Amino acid sequence: MTARKGIILAGGAGTRLHPVTLAVSKQLLPVYDKPMIYYPLSVLMLAGIREIAVITTPHDQEAFQRLLGDGSRWGLSFTWIVQPAPEGLAQAYLLAESFLDGAPSAMVLGDNLFFGHGLPELLARADARREGGTVFAYHVADPTRYGVLGFDDQGRASRIVEKPAEPPSSWAVTGLYFLDGTAPERAKALTPSARGELEIVSLLEGYLAEGALEVERMGRGFAWLDTGTHASLLDAGNFVRTLTERQGLRVGSPEEVAFRQGWIDAEALAARAAELRGTDYGAYLARLAEGRADVP
Ligand code: DAU
Repeated sequence: MTARKGIILAGGAGTRLHPVTLAVSKQLLPVYDKPMIYYPLSVLMLAGIREIAVITTPHDQEAFQRLLGDGSRWGLSFTWIVQPAPEGLAQAYLLAESFLDGAPSAMVLGDNLFFGHGLPELLARADARREGGTVFAYHVADPTRYGVLGFDDQGRASRIVEKPAEPPSSWAVTGLYFLDGTAPERAKALTPSARGELEIVSLLEGYLAEGALEVERMGRGFAWLDTGTHASLLDAGNFVRTLTERQGLRVGSPEEVAFRQGWIDAEALAARAAELRGTDYGAYLARLAEGRADVP
């Protein structure tokens, strides 16, 4: 079975967070104790994905490379792709076509945070579906800000609309898309929308029309956090802080996921902890490497 490959889409102009994002890419901003991109990266890793393309703007690529390296410290391999202009989420499949080379993919937006009991199982279910696609729906208070699902009388997804003024439901489509190897081919057939973008919802509509789109609902036990506004970014940071301080465990740590997946050994983890010495995060990794994660 061809291994599923990952894509992290981390481009965009970040205009809604100006002036904060004038000089720094949004996905590099801190969410409490880690750069934002660590969280979606950890989600792909939880799905068992080790070959990942990181798509950035041309001018931000170097900063991402400084942060992430080539992936080997986490047992991963990164491929670097530039998106010259933010021409839509679905464009990622055109840019990543040769990287994917026919493989199924999981694309995550670099500004999406997921947390919840049972996430690895949910991801494994989506990974096991090799034909068609899977999206994850989340009940939100303000669906007008997202791609939104409409359902028929039997509760089956029947349409997807981007930022509808009159939402057909409260179920938003989150920024995590598991699609089969046909995604790049399908993306080629799309034309830019009125706002000049290749829309992800248009790509998903194609799958939906063929009955090839599975919708997994993320129930109330999950947190899908938004970082689209200054307030929601701060809220996400506070959420991570609350969990971290209460549990004494870390959320969104690529080192921890790599270690638990068996992709790096205790020695490599200890070396990484040494690089980060002097920080609480480094101390946490050191305890993990020594098998003392349960010790404060
Ligand atoms: O977060 C989930 C939502 O993400 C979905 O519900 C929507 O269907 C989907 O369109 C998207 O909505 P946003 O309003 O969040 O899209 P935005 O244009 O802000 O882009 C999302 C992220 O992707 C953002 O961090 C920037 C990045 N991006 C965006 C575009 C359009 C790129 O890297 N390249 C792009 O061309």
